[in-house]
Amino acid sequence: MCGIFGVTGTAKTAADNVFAGLKNLEYRGYDSWGVALRDTEGIQITKQVGKISEGTMEGSDAYEAVGHSRWATHGGVTLDNSHPHRVGGVVVVHNGIFENYLSYKTKLEDEIDFKSETDSEVIAALLHIEIQNGSSPQEALTHVSSLIEGRFAILVMFDSMPGIWAVRRGSPLILGRGGEQTYIASDIPAFLEMTNVVNYLDDNQMAYLHGVEVDFWDLLTGEEIEKRNIEVEWDIESADKGEHPHFMIKEILEQKETIARAINQDKEQIDAFTTALKKAGGIYIIGCGTAHKAAMATEYFFAQIAGKKVNVVAASEVESFKTFIRPNTALVCISQSGETADIMEVVEYAESVDATVLSITNVASSSLARASTVALPVKVGPEKAVASTKATTGQITIGFLLAHAYADTFTKGLGILLGAAANINDMINPRYEEHIESVAKKFKDTENLFIIGRASLYPIALEAAIKIQEVSYIHAQGFAAGELKHGPIALIEEGTPCIVLGDDQETISNATELKSRGAVIIGISTTEQPVFDHWLRVPDAELAQPLVSIIPIQILSYHFALLRGHDPDMPRNLAKSVTVK
Ligand code: AGP
Ligand code: GLU
Repeated sequence: MCGIFGVTGTAKTAADNVFAGLKNLEYRGYDSWGVALRDTEGIQITKQVGKISEGTMEGSDAYEAVGHSRWATHGGVTLDNSHPHRVGGVVVVHNGIFENYLSYKTKLEDEIDFKSETDSEVIAALLHIEIQNGSSPQEALTHVSSLIEGRFAILVMFDSMPGIWAVRRGSPLILGRGGEQTYIASDIPAFLEMTNVVNYLDDNQMAYLHGVEVDFWDLLTGEEIEKRNIEVEWDIESADKGEHPHFMIKEILEQKETIARAINQDKEQIDAFTTALKKAGGIYIIGCGTAHKAAMATEYFFAQIAGKKVNVVAASEVESFKTFIRPNTALVCISQSGETADIMEVVEYAESVDATVLSITNVASSSLARASTVALPVKVGPEKAVASTKATTGQITIGFLLAHAYADTFTKGLGILLGAAANINDMINPRYEEHIESVAKKFKDTENLFIIGRASLYPIALEAAIKIQEVSYIHAQGFAAGELKHGPIALIEEGTPCIVLGDDQETISNATELKSRGAVIIGISTTEQPVFDHWLRVPDAELAQPLVSIIPIQILSYHFALLRGHDPDMPRNLAKSVTVK
């Protein structure tokens, strides 16, 4: 995970730019941060533990900088472990995991005085030794990269020459071009205020940024490569909090428009997607966390609408099913970021067996989108809060649309979704939010909270649990409504809050079973039911009910987080884009 950022050029604004750029990447990791600044005196390193948004940095005349906002994988959250790491004349920031670092660290321990517990410092050490032995930076980087097992992106500065070197294998790196400075970062919003002209660094490629010039090489062949300048469409405003206190609430409220944007797909692309699905011998849909729950909802849509069985697997669990991914398999990947390592590993495997990779992703420029035969864009704009909200409903929307397209009832599906989008627009208003906040106040101190849902609302029960857990730290758990009586009902005590999704007869019976054992019932449904102690109304969206049902829970989670004193945008232990396995 982590955000990395680099800037070169002649303007002496590199310090300000790296500080601003890293702040834009903070959602990727926020344990600690650090920068290396190069001015006429050489390279100076500054590090701080904590969030960069709460940090300070002194002014400087630096014209080059690299920076890092960390999400610790190896070594605790300390100043020594934060990046950049310097060994001799080499300064490194690293995103990812050097899986086999220990074997090298053990060998080098007599020679190098390691200051940190990180895997990253070993990269700096190996580069330092290469340089000492007379290699050029290019040779050193090529050789050391070949030693690293795992997915990574690194930026390197050498004392001996100006410029920044970059290598990518598995973790994103994008260059911002066209001005008096050149930028390189883990994600485009980091430099979007400066430029929207980009070059994508692909896996096993290396770049050398010097002034405003950049040279590119293929790491495996050593050949120089040309890059195309690409203009990206994102506007700065949508990556900003605007008048809202947090990205999470801004993004929740944006669903008044974003669902309509997700519905508005290019029909030719939808047709290309469904043609690939129909041609396939088997369909696997994968995702992680929330996106996996959107995949599960899609599985229900395909069964209910198209009578088609699709297989849904959490990307991190695909290993056991790998043998079923064959040349005639369609692998559908759902991912907001399009950079999640667990997904990209499966994509690489699918490519190796010539399976067809299809995707639903919010970042049209992501590694996933670029690896896909057809990539449907979710189109909800940058999602910055760690907790996914508007991307989730965008993904569910597209899953629903695809099931209808597969069943040759696209227009009908479109009609249902447009109706749902209009109803959501009406539903999200200040009175609705206040009502949900009042419910949040009643249960904010609970230790446990359970959510039940049946059929396509079962994945929503699971997603609801993720949302509540990740921002409020309440122990929340979702169940299939009918499964409670097979064990989990033993957890219910007098006063245990339970959220019940739906108002069908069977689910209401399950709610009554809970209430008989002391549970307090919060119903989320189109009609109010006598068994509910509290009711959060949602419009009737027919088979697209998952889409409308998750929104009140997103609002509830946000208010739980605030009432319990947590920052909903940057929950503990998490990061937005999980680019490590
Ligand atoms: C969402 O609220 C979570 N933070 C998380 O589960 C997320 O959905 C997951 O890491 C997948 O990310 P992706 O969609 O970018 O692949
Ligand atoms: N593995 C490195 C560390 O723990 C980098 C982690 C990251 O990507 O932030 O410091």
